[in-house]
This record gives sequence, structure tokens and C-alpha cells, in this order.
Amino acid sequence: MCGIVAAAARREVSEILLEGLRRLEYRGYDSAGMALVDNEHNLQLHKQQGKVCELEKAQAMRPLLGCTGIAHTRWATHGEPSAVNAHPHISGQRLALVHNGIIENHAALREQLIAQGYEFTSATDTEVVVHLLHSFLLQGNPLLAAMQETVCLLEGAYALAVVDIEHPDEVVAARKGSPLVVGVGIGENFLASDQLALRQVTDRFIFLEEGDVVQISPSSLQIFDESGNPVERARTMISAAVEVADLGGFDHYMLKEIHEQPRALAATFAQSAALPAADDCFGAGAAAVFDRVRAVQIVACGTSFHAGMVARYWLEELAGIPCQVEVASEFRYRKRVTRPDTLLVTISQSGETADTLAALRNAGADEFIASLVISNVDNSSLVRDSDLVFLTRAGMEIGVASTKAFTTQLVGLLLLTLALGRRGAMTEQKQQEVMVALQGLPDYVQQTLELDSAIERLSGAFIPRHHALFLGRGIQYPIAMEGALKLKEISYIHAEAYPAGELKHGPLALVDDDMPVVAVAPSDDLLEKLKSNLEEVRSRGGELYVFADRQAGFVSEARVHVLPMPHCPEVIKPIVYTVALQLLSYHVALQKGTDVDKPRNLAKSVTVE
Ligand code: G6P
Repeated sequence: MCGIVAAAARREVSEILLEGLRRLEYRGYDSAGMALVDNEHNLQLHKQQGKVCELEKAQAMRPLLGCTGIAHTRWATHGEPSAVNAHPHISGQRLALVHNGIIENHAALREQLIAQGYEFTSATDTEVVVHLLHSFLLQGNPLLAAMQETVCLLEGAYALAVVDIEHPDEVVAARKGSPLVVGVGIGENFLASDQLALRQVTDRFIFLEEGDVVQISPSSLQIFDESGNPVERARTMISAAVEVADLGGFDHYMLKEIHEQPRALAATFAQSAALPAADDCFGAGAAAVFDRVRAVQIVACGTSFHAGMVARYWLEELAGIPCQVEVASEFRYRKRVTRPDTLLVTISQSGETADTLAALRNAGADEFIASLVISNVDNSSLVRDSDLVFLTRAGMEIGVASTKAFTTQLVGLLLLTLALGRRGAMTEQKQQEVMVALQGLPDYVQQTLELDSAIERLSGAFIPRHHALFLGRGIQYPIAMEGALKLKEISYIHAEAYPAGELKHGPLALVDDDMPVVAVAPSDDLLEKLKSNLEEVRSRGGELYVFADRQAGFVSEARVHVLPMPHCPEVIKPIVYTVALQLLSYHVALQKGTDVDKPRNLAKSVTVE
């Protein structure tokens, strides 16, 4: 994780760097720092524990000046969050370096550097890189060559950017396994972990390739590939119609994003109708690939993994396609047996999650017939590396806890189910039913949003609790998992989800009057089974919070609180019920006073293992 911004300009860059960091804070926010080379070629440095606003305060108290600089917002991997461990790291009073990623051989390198006389001040893996660079500079290498020598010795993942007082107009950078983009200006050039950080200064970008090393100055920009050969990389114009990251009258981005769902879902679904053929929204060549698909393997992390879990029910029940779902961090290291003609589907809001990207890149040459990514970010690494792409139209998601990205992923997955089902088990009538349900989805979500006050009233009971259990059956089980994840992410209440039928095999022992039990209980084929499980909870003194439509027949009574959900078509129930659980977590977190948009210890884009 971590966010990098760098600038080589003919004007003061501190404000550009700070604005870039504010836009990158979703990548980590436990400490931040900035180094500038001033007009007298001195290195100026600020490092602060805490969010980027702490760095802003330091800059307001003691302004740093300079036209060349690097900046960083951190999500700690090696070394606790502190000012000392914050980046940039310094060597020889001349070099400052920022890093996103993990240097896996840092311990061995550290020993060698200590033997050479280098003193380490931090507990980070990053500090070895700056001292290594320094040692290559001392051998007489220019900054660029020193970087090329250094990266040859690094194992792991990195995006790096460095400034040197002996090369005061330059920033040199490198990437492998972590994203880095060049922002091309007029008489100035920039670098960042994400083009969003630079939209304030340019609309022209170069997405660097694995192993690239780049040197920027105000007037020049040179890229070298992994073998050291100069290369030209394509320039991409990204429209100036920048999405403005403002709260739009809401108290938090998460709440705003929850409320944006009707529009985001409609926009995501509309893609399937806007193109000449239904499969076109998955990219050129999708139809030919889908004709051959006999099985699907889904790989993802976090909330996106839950979307995959839901899709398994749709793909198997509606399309008759065997489907496996696995978290990327396990999938990538496992010896696997893959069925013939399997399509690899990765799901990632950011398109940059390290484990998911590695799962795609490590897939055997002939293991899958093709790869498809469902992502919210065009030009992201997963989008660029996949054969087929479905872009969700959620718009920028800033809250760390994913909401509208998840529900729009589900729309993409339902469209994939239709695409594969059309070729096999799905009748015309069923296809039509699903299309009608998708058309009506934004309305059902809107009706759910209108339950906000009722959900807020329910949420009060969770505030003093330390644990909560979420139950669901069938396709609602992954929705219970997503509800539990949301609650723990933002309210820090320990929450677990169980398929309700498993309750008696262990978790029932936890049930007492201190354990709220949330049930995702729409009227469906498994409702009666679920009701029996909930009776088991009640008879042991558990307190139930039941999200159910009127047809499910639940009645509020002592220790049973029913939240009346809209009655909607079966196939979209997972999406509609998710929205209610998002609001529940939001209100619990709000009343607990946690940082809803930036929960502790987490980051939105996880670009390390
Ligand atoms: C982080 C975020 C989660 C997200 C997960 C996967 O943990 O905090 O909200 O679900 O990464 O991210 P991706 O971008 O791959 O969907």
C-alpha cells in the first residue's frame, strides 16, 4: 500500500505534493512525510505520525520550499507507525526516498550495509534501499544508474521515488509489483501511485510497466525497461471531467457512497444495453471466449471475495456452470487442479490488489481459457493484464469500507451469469426475469435507503456489544459475511458470519443475552430452515435482529426486532439486503465515534502481500 507523489517543476511543489497525498490517503494513513530539494540544494524534510492533515500542520508551522520533491502516505508493514518509520528515508544527508511495497530480502541487505558502515534509524524494510542507492552513488554512478543497480538487488514489490541534492532537478523512480504512473506536464513532470493524485496538474499519463525505471526533470522524461533499454510507453489522456471528491452534503464518504447506489447500479447495468451485442460490455472477443467456457474460477480479496461467493450461487443455479471461489492470497500459492475450459474471473474494486494481481499473473500458461476482471478502475494493473474486462460504473469510492463497488460488482457478475446462461441452462423466460429484476434494482435499493431511520434505531443496541453473529442461508450466507465484515471494519465490533445451519456445530455455544444475532431472512426456499435455526437462538436467550420482507412472516416481539425490507425479485435480494446491512454498520460506527471513512489499521488499496 502507501501512496507516493513526486514532482520535478520550475515552481514550488509542496502544495501539489500535499494535494496528491490527500487524494492518495485511501492507500494508507498512519503517517506521512515529504522531502524537497530547495534552491540552495539543501534537503528539507517533514515526517509526521498520523494522517496527512498532521503533515499539513507541520508544513503550515515550518513551510518547506522547493521545486523538486517526493511525498508519501504510509500503511505500515515493517516498523510501527511513527515519525521515525515514516517515509522519506534519508542516506548520507543527500538522498531521500519513498517506497510502496515490501522488500523481502531486507534483512540480508541490512546486514551487508551495516557491515559497510551504514547506520539504520528506522525499523522499515525501505531504509535498505536508500542506503544501497547511496552506496552506488559513492561509486561514481549518476542517480539513474544507481537506481538501476539498486533494483537489481531487490526482491519483493516496490514503487520507489528518490531525490538527491547532487541532482537537484531530478526525480528517479522505479516500479515492480506496485503501481506507478507518470503525469506529463508542460515544463514539469510528476509521478504518483495513482493518476487520481495528479489530476489537479495534468490530464496526460504514462502507466509504467513492470521493471521500468524512470527519470523526470522539468524538461525531460526518460523511461528504461527492466534490461536498461530506453523505451517509449504509450501516453493516455484522461478526461478532465474529474470526479470531485466532495461529501455532497453527507457527513461521510461511506454514507454518500451508500446513497449513490441506485445511480451506480443503473449505470453499471445500462452498459449491457448500450452496446450492439450483450457480451460487448466484457470487451472485444468476449463472445468467442464465452462460447467455450465450461467452468469458472473466481479469485478476489475482502469484499470483492464476497461478491464472488454470491456469484457462485448464480452461476451454478441459473447458468449451470460449475464455479469455484477462492481468496487470492490462498489461491496464488496452492497447487491446483483446474477443469478444462475454465474462465478465470478476478474481482477487484481498485484493480491493484497485490494478491489478486499475483493470482492472475501466476496462473499457468494453459490453465485457463482466458481471464476476465471485474473492476471499478480503468487502466488499473488488473484491467491492463486481463483478456476481458467488465468495468463497474460505481464512480470513485473513497470510504475504505467498500459499498457501491460491491453492489455494482454483483451487477457485473449477474450479467456474466446471463451471458453464460444464455449459452446453456437458462431459459429465455428466466433471462427475461433477471433482466426485469435488474431494471427494477435501483428502485428497490432506493426503498431500502428510505429505511435509514428505522435501521438507525436498531443500531443503538449494538453500541455496548463486543461481538455479533450474522446468519444467512444459501445465497444470503455471503451477504451475512459481508454484513459482518462491514461491522468489524468500521465499528471494531467482532462480528462473525455463519451459514445458519452450522450454528448447532459450535457457534450456538456463544449465544447469550450479550450476543446480538443478525439474520438475513428474506422469503425464499430456505426460509423455514432458517426460522428453525433462529428458534434455536431464541430459546437460548439470544436477541434477534431480523432483516426480512413481510412475506417472510416475522413479527417483532420481545427479543426479536424485525426490519421490514421491500419485497423484491429473488435474484436481486442479495444486493438489496446488502444495502440495509451497510446502513446498520454505518450507524453503529457513527454512534461509537470511530473514523467511518478511514478505519484504523486498514487501507483501501492493498498493494502489498
Ligand atoms: C481492502 C479494502 C476492502 C477491499 C479489499 C479488496 O481490504 O479495505 O474494502 O474489499 O481490499 O480490494 P479490491 O480493490 O481488490 O476490491
